[in-house]
Amino acid sequence: MKTFSLLSLAAIVLADASPPEQIPISPIESPTEPLTLDAIPLLGFGTWNLKEKNTSEAVSWAIQTGYRHIDAAAIYGNEVEVGKGIRDGLLRTGLQREHLWITSKLWNDKHDPNLVESGLDASLHKLGLTYLDLYHMHWPVADTLFSGKKISYRDTWGAMILQQQKGKTRHIGVANFSPAQLQDLLNHTSVPPAVHQFELHPYLQQNEWIEWHKNHSIHVTAYSPLAGTNPTYDESDGPTPLLKEKHIHKIAKKRGCTPAQVVLQWGILRGTSVIPKSIHKDYISSNFHATECELKKKDLEKVDKLGKEHHRYNNPSKSWKVDLYQGLEDDDGKHGKAKFWDEK
Ligand SMILES: NC(=O)c1ccc[n+]([C@@H]2O[C@H](COP(=O)([O-])OP(=O)(O)OC[C@H]3O[C@@H](n4cnc5c(N)ncnc54)[C@H](OP(=O)(O)O)[C@@H]3O)[C@@H](O)[C@H]2O)c1
Ligand SMILES: *[C@@H]1O[C@H](CO)[C@@H](O)[C@H](O)[C@H]1NC(C)=O
Ligand SMILES: *[C@@H]1O[C@H](CO)[C@@H](O)[C@H](O)[C@H]1NC(C)=O
Ligand SMILES: *[C@@H]1O[C@H](CO)[C@@H](O)[C@H](O)[C@H]1NC(C)=O
Repeated sequence: MKTFSLLSLAAIVLADASPPEQIPISPIESPTEPLTLDAIPLLGFGTWNLKEKNTSEAVSWAIQTGYRHIDAAAIYGNEVEVGKGIRDGLLRTGLQREHLWITSKLWNDKHDPNLVESGLDASLHKLGLTYLDLYHMHWPVADTLFSGKKISYRDTWGAMILQQQKGKTRHIGVANFSPAQLQDLLNHTSVPPAVHQFELHPYLQQNEWIEWHKNHSIHVTAYSPLAGTNPTYDESDGPTPLLKEKHIHKIAKKRGCTPAQVVLQWGILRGTSVIPKSIHKDYISSNFHATECELKKKDLEKVDKLGKEHHRYNNPSKSWKVDLYQGLEDDDGKHGKAKFWDEK
C-alpha cells in the first residue's frame, strides 16, 4: 500500500515536471565560433521583403559567407525560396542542417490552438525542413481581424509548447510583446519563451526592456537593426536615416568599417542578436563582417546618445485596431520615452 502511494506520487511529480525543459540558449559571440545545437548565433540573416528573383541566391550566399542563422516567417511569403537557398547553401558549403539555426514565425491568423500545428507544418514544408530551431509567435495579436474571433495568446502559447514537445521546433519564442503581455504570459506558463524578437536599433534602444529580459534569462533578437533603412518604413518624419547619420559616419571612417557594420556591432556588443536583411551580395558579406569592426568604448557611447530619438518604425497598431507595445518607447508614435518603468 505504501509502495503504491509512493509510486503514484512519483508519477504525479513526473507528470508535473514533464513540460519540456527549455534548453537555455547561450549566444554565440563570434560568427566563427563552433556551433552547438542550442546556441543562437548573434548575427543572423533577415528575410522580410526578400522577394527578388534571386532570393534563393541571397540566402545561399549568406550561408556561403558564413551566416548560420536565418530568420524567416510565414507572412514573408518566401519560405519556398528561402528553403531552396538553404539547401543550396548547405550543398555548396558541405554543411549539415544541424549547423544552421533556422527561425520561423506563426502568423496572426493561425493563433487558434487547433491551427498552430498546421501553421508550423506549412512553414516546415515550404522551407523543406523537418524541424525549426526557433518558432516565434509573430505578434500577440489574434483579433477578429485575422481569425474571426478573439484568441488569447496564452492559449496559442500552450499549443506552441506542444509543438516543441513533438520535436517540430527546438525552441519557442514570442515577438512584439509589451511588458504587461509578457509578464502575463510568464504568470500563466511553466515554459517561458526562449527568445523575444522586437524592434531595436540606435534610435530605439529600449535599455530597461533589454535588462528585464536579461533578468528573466530570455534572449533578445533585434529586428530592423538598421532602423528605418528598410524601404517599407517611412523615414521622412523621423531622424536622419541611421546609415547617413554623421556620428555613425565618423565612427565608421575612423575604425575602417561601414556605417552598417558600426550599427550591427553595437547591437551585438550589447548582447542582442541582429538579423540584417539584404538582397545585395556586397551588403550580405560586409554586414557579416561587422564583428570584425573594432569599436572603442567612446564610439559605443556616441551611438548610445542617439537613443534620445525614441523612434519606432514598425507599429501596425492603428491598421489592426489593437494596442501594441504599451508602456515601451514610442508606443504611440509620439517618440516618447518608455513609460512602463516610470510607473513603478
Ligand atoms: N518579428 C517581426 O515582427 C519583424 C519585424 C521586422 C523585421 N523582422 C526581421 O528582421 C529582419 C531585419 O529587419 P528589416 O528587414 O526590417 O531591416 P534591416 O535588416 O534593418 O534593413 C534592411 C534594409 O537595409 C538595406 N541594407 C542592408 N544592408 C545594408 C548596408 N550594409 N548598407 C546599406 N543598406 C543596407 C537593405 O537593402 P537591400 O536589401 O536593397 O540591400 C534593406 O532595405 C527582417 O528581414 C525580418 O527577418 C521581424
Ligand atoms: C541579386 O540581383 C541584384 C541585381 O542584379 C544584384 O545586385 C545582387 O547582388 C544579386 N544578389 C545575389 C545574392 O546574387
Ligand atoms: C504576475 O504575477 C505577479 C506576482 O504574482 C503579479 O505581481 C503581477 O501583477 C502579475 N502580472 C500580470 C501582468 O498579470
Ligand atoms: C534587473 O535586476 C536587477 C537586480 O535584481 C534590478 O536592480 C533591476 O531593477 C532589474 N531591472 C529590470 C528592468 O527589471
